[in-house]
Amino acid sequence: MIFINEEKRIFNLRTENTEYVFGLDNENLIRHIYWGNKINNENDFEMDVLCEVSTNDPVYEITPEEYPVFGGLRYSENCLKVTFDDKTRDIVYKYDGYEVDGDLLVIKLKDVYYNFTINLNYKVMEKYDLIERYVTITNESDQSIVIEEIYSGQLHIPYENLIFRNTHGHWGAEQQMFKQNVSYGKITIENRKGVSGHNNNPYFILDKNATETSGEVFYGALRMSGNFKGVIEQTPYGETLVQMGINPYDFQFTLNPKESFTTPPLLCGYTDKGFEKMSHNLHNFAKENLLREGLRPVLYNSWEATEFNVTCEEQIKLAREAKKIGTELFVVDDGWFGQRNSIHNGLGDWYVNKEKFPKGLNPLIEEVKSLGMKFGIWVEPEMVNPLSKLYIDNPDWIYHFKTRERTTSRGQYVLNITKKEVKEFIYNMLDNLLSNYDIDYIKWDVNRPICEGGATNLGENERKMAFDHIQAVYDIVKELKKKHKNVLFEACASGGGRIDLGILGIFDDFWTSDNTDAYDRLFIQHTYSHIYPIKAMRAWVTDCPNFLSQRNIPLRFRFHSAMMGTLGIGGNILKWSNEDMKLAKDMVEEYKSIREIVQEGDFFRLENTSTNNYHLFEYTKDNEALLFAFLPQTQIGHRPVRVKLRNLDEKGMYEYKINGETMVKSGSYLMNYGVNIHLRGDYQSEIIRFDRR
Ligand code: GLA
Repeated sequence: MIFINEEKRIFNLRTENTEYVFGLDNENLIRHIYWGNKINNENDFEMDVLCEVSTNDPVYEITPEEYPVFGGLRYSENCLKVTFDDKTRDIVYKYDGYEVDGDLLVIKLKDVYYNFTINLNYKVMEKYDLIERYVTITNESDQSIVIEEIYSGQLHIPYENLIFRNTHGHWGAEQQMFKQNVSYGKITIENRKGVSGHNNNPYFILDKNATETSGEVFYGALRMSGNFKGVIEQTPYGETLVQMGINPYDFQFTLNPKESFTTPPLLCGYTDKGFEKMSHNLHNFAKENLLREGLRPVLYNSWEATEFNVTCEEQIKLAREAKKIGTELFVVDDGWFGQRNSIHNGLGDWYVNKEKFPKGLNPLIEEVKSLGMKFGIWVEPEMVNPLSKLYIDNPDWIYHFKTRERTTSRGQYVLNITKKEVKEFIYNMLDNLLSNYDIDYIKWDVNRPICEGGATNLGENERKMAFDHIQAVYDIVKELKKKHKNVLFEACASGGGRIDLGILGIFDDFWTSDNTDAYDRLFIQHTYSHIYPIKAMRAWVTDCPNFLSQRNIPLRFRFHSAMMGTLGIGGNILKWSNEDMKLAKDMVEEYKSIREIVQEGDFFRLENTSTNNYHLFEYTKDNEALLFAFLPQTQIGHRPVRVKLRNLDEKGMYEYKINGETMVKSGSYLMNYGVNIHLRGDYQSEIIRFDRR
């Protein structure tokens, strides 16, 4: 809900449990006032008069501005920096009224001299305790304006000494969480790779010694893929600032007369109930607004089994085995097209390879369909190999500088998809693929960063290339989905390099990581779950020793780890023993019986109170709960764990089986006393199901 006190010029955004308040101050600045628990009395808020601390600490520095612009006596990070046609480089804005449209509040600002407007948009997402912030700038003048920096917003947290969390990592080690104490000096997280990143992720979590279930957490996630930046800074005036948005690194564009530009939205929230509530708010938002309805199928993917040695015959054999264990979707990975026998050729030549598929793709697709499975296929449309016909015929279709050697990575160049003809080529290629074949699932990969962004077609906006590139990807998929409504798209970028809330909703699934080691995955999935919904988290069971870790893990643990997300099988099942196939069939069947709870329920990271190394997770939906318990390696003492469940009905009675014995206990008992889990040995795991009677 939006409350406006016209007299005090104070705006109050209220969600189910929180309130976000700002107003217009005596200096004509849009000043932040409050972000925290709901107060419910909008008339309590006042706009105090701020005075400079000294001439060296001017009012602009101490004012918590909602959207500080470059100019005047402002030296902190700012959100917007432009150059007007006459070389004036600062903005002096005045308040120009507001508009309310349902849950959207728009604060209108206008430069005092130039015909340039800045609209600060605040969308209140009441039931999720979230506010979405984005900014629209418009050039109403007859001269062009150069935009050098434009963030989605600045946030103010009224504390010092907070703890900041984000991810670091690299290929095969995505989603590694780090914690850092915020002090004086900035923390910067960013991506400069144009396409995707395995390092920092576009979100912030700031807490005051929070736990999963208690404590204050301020958080936000940017709805954009590609080059983002976030700056976290504790000021000398007693607060912590966050700016987040498009990375100003190698970024600039010209806003022509009468043109507008809107930043990607920043979703932000507050809770005093710890990280669990933060995750639920974001998950619920994603589940109800971004993700397509329906349960995700159990898939088989051929990559680890065959790599580039794809043949029709072999794929049919794999499909038949996959069917035996209950797989519902068969995905042919890299290697089916052009001269794709290694990373060095094929990308760009999207015709079916005749040596591998002498009669085309249809014999395979028909077999898959006759087995009652859906069919999926891998593509990497943004890329081209130098040896491909596409590149030889169109050497100007890639990002490059005319006088420089063109840089390959994984043997490939990046297509300049901001060019109309390139974008059309990709759209048509995929449209043909989806129209000519009965395809239900596209795994869209991208395996290198962009460089040499000398996109001549962009003219003076060549530095906006990274932003425009990802918009073109979004456009192509959105357009394809209009025509091919039932096709699911998986976002993959050398594993989990394209996990963000910008792509989610346009794409349906994330490939979480090429690291399929079931133990490593527990950590990757744990971090992932802080921001992103379980339903989009693809997890495969693959062969051992794992290609990355060289670790051997029992098949049951591997299944349990992958069953935490949307289950896939990625091993060479032609080599699995009868015993493994039997276990796999049982596990897939079990997954199908619980997947509604896993994919659509609420997810909980439970506390391990044992000195033993347990990893404990819970899912709840309606009258059921699932407890996933993993013990990778028992520690000396071999202690059990007593684990307290979450989110049950206190008065309800729950039936569950533990060590072969059926128990019935109240929700209250299970949430307060808990259940005792005693796993013994290494790589032990259990899934316990609690059914309300
Ligand atoms: C990337 C993906 C893998 C696989 C290969 C194919 O590395 O992450 O899953 O699709 O490309 O080349």
